[in-house]
Amino acid sequence: MKKILVTGGLGFIGSHTVVELQAEGYEVVVIDNLNNSRKEVKISIEEISGKTFELKVADVTNSIALNELFEEHKFEGVIHFAAHKAVGESVENPVSYYQNNLSGLVSLLGAMEKQGVSNLIFSSSCTVYGATTDLPVTEKTVIQKAESPYGTTKILGEEIINDYAKHKDFKSILLRYFNPVGAHPSAKIGELPLGVPNNLVPYITQTAAGIRKQLTVFGDDYNTIDGTCIRDYIHVVDLAKAHVKALAYCNEMKQPVDVFNVGTGKGNTVLEVIHAFEHSNNIKLAYTVGARRGGDVEQIFADTTKVNELLGWHAHYDIADMMKHAWAWQQNLK
Ligand code: UFG
Repeated sequence: MKKILVTGGLGFIGSHTVVELQAEGYEVVVIDNLNNSRKEVKISIEEISGKTFELKVADVTNSIALNELFEEHKFEGVIHFAAHKAVGESVENPVSYYQNNLSGLVSLLGAMEKQGVSNLIFSSSCTVYGATTDLPVTEKTVIQKAESPYGTTKILGEEIINDYAKHKDFKSILLRYFNPVGAHPSAKIGELPLGVPNNLVPYITQTAAGIRKQLTVFGDDYNTIDGTCIRDYIHVVDLAKAHVKALAYCNEMKQPVDVFNVGTGKGNTVLEVIHAFEHSNNIKLAYTVGARRGGDVEQIFADTTKVNELLGWHAHYDIADMMKHAWAWQQNLK
């Protein structure tokens, strides 16, 4: 059985990916520092898949722990999720972002090199395209200087992998995620934001649950159909499946590194997301329109031709499913 190491495998995208890997017959080992995740997620994953996996509670920046893990197991490949991901926090505390996201990646490459593990799937982000006007964005759209230290860690992460792969027998796929939302249809796993959510969908579900008084729509004077920002929301289960496809593709790839956008190809405004939530769940949401949020781009959505054609991956869930599953998960949270 092919064995895969998943870093950050108890996090939002990581946990859904472990489920999909197990469903495809992979044996999974997870390394997670529980910094932004809970240990109980392991049990929930195992309930969904009916299969167990090994969890090492350690930080990916800890080279000793990583090397031990690579000596204990013969990995076919690695999927690297473990990273800090809050844009605003990265502006407040850039050093922690560079320390964690970049030295984590470098430690991982070091351990992979030592043990001759040559397949890596890397979590990148559409944030690398910045405020582009070249829409929909293809993988050839020019990368812009990042708006936040978080974004810089994604651009630099991609560069580090490109440099490394030039001189080694190595294959890597960089997946540029658009906006991952929703939860597993079983409502057993989903997003677990710490404190007040920064992102739209957890803020919506917490408002509907009465945890937050009301949602603020950040600006309605953008040049879009209803004045609110457009994003390409992608169901986390679809995104998880793209990782499994990417792993298989690693073995067929001719060049050392390839990059794929992972979105639905369809943009939705903030108001459309709110109305989809209300409609799918038959709930009236308390919201108000406020000022623009600093650093927001007006609109971004993916051209998914490359991921559709080369990975044979297509998004299955629509915005109504994403809202239904996100709400079912919120209701399941204690
Ligand atoms: N929004 C609101 N109210 C809220 C929260 C968000 O109106 O309370 C709006 C934002 O202004 C934006 C949209 O909802 O227009 C989506 O915002 P999110 O914070 O959910 O997502 P972002 O598009 O800002 O960020 C996401 C990822 C980042 C990544 C970025 C790349 O969370 O990790 O996409 O564009 F860097």
